[in-house]
Amino acid sequence: MKIAILNGSPRKQNTSSMVQAFIEGAEAAGHEAVEYQVGKMNIGGCLGCEYCHTKGEGKCIRKDDLEQIMPAYLEADMIVFASPIYYFTMTAQMEAAIQRVYCIGKPAKATKAALLLSSGSPGVYDGAIAQFKAYMAYAGIEVAGIITANGADNKSEAKLAEIREFAKSL
Ligand SMILES: Cc1cc2nc3c(=O)[nH]c(=O)nc-3n(C[C@H](O)[C@H](O)[C@H](O)COP(=O)(O)O)c2cc1C
Repeated sequence: MKIAILNGSPRKQNTSSMVQAFIEGAEAAGHEAVEYQVGKMNIGGCLGCEYCHTKGEGKCIRKDDLEQIMPAYLEADMIVFASPIYYFTMTAQMEAAIQRVYCIGKPAKATKAALLLSSGSPGVYDGAIAQFKAYMAYAGIEVAGIITANGADNKSEAKLAEIREFAKSL
């Protein structure tokens, strides 16, 4: 499978450790896994201008880094959304990337998705998980798994092994 991982963290720490473990497991199982560092990209919010659905024929009027992540939406068989929790949701960069899929409606090929969330405290995931599940139900994409890590768990060998095993099982 072609797996695209959208990493919403603007820095390379906890979420990136989870992403790295996922890539190791996925590659061990023979999948192709590509990470897109959305958190470090310049992707603005959707303007709601409808250019994409009229004159633009599926192309967004905003010229920013969205183009770098379009392969994830157009070609991936699976999309992994990985993000730290910022104020009870995914990062603003990730939210912009999620909402800008509007130009093509929904991911074109993906049949599976997963969510990896990193946070400081436990019990802060309800908003992000509800959004993810609703979005996947709308897009007709199977939720293959949701893994969360908080505090010291973020980089614990047990958590990284759980993520590796999950990716291997896909
Ligand atoms: C702006 C900001 C908001 C945050 N909000 C929350 C929060 O609401 N709940 C929480 O548990 N942790 C929160 N955190 C902590 C991060 O989710 C946590 O440190 C995470 O592991 C960071 O991942 P990263 O190393 O990939 O950036 C916040 C951190 C920042 C910088």
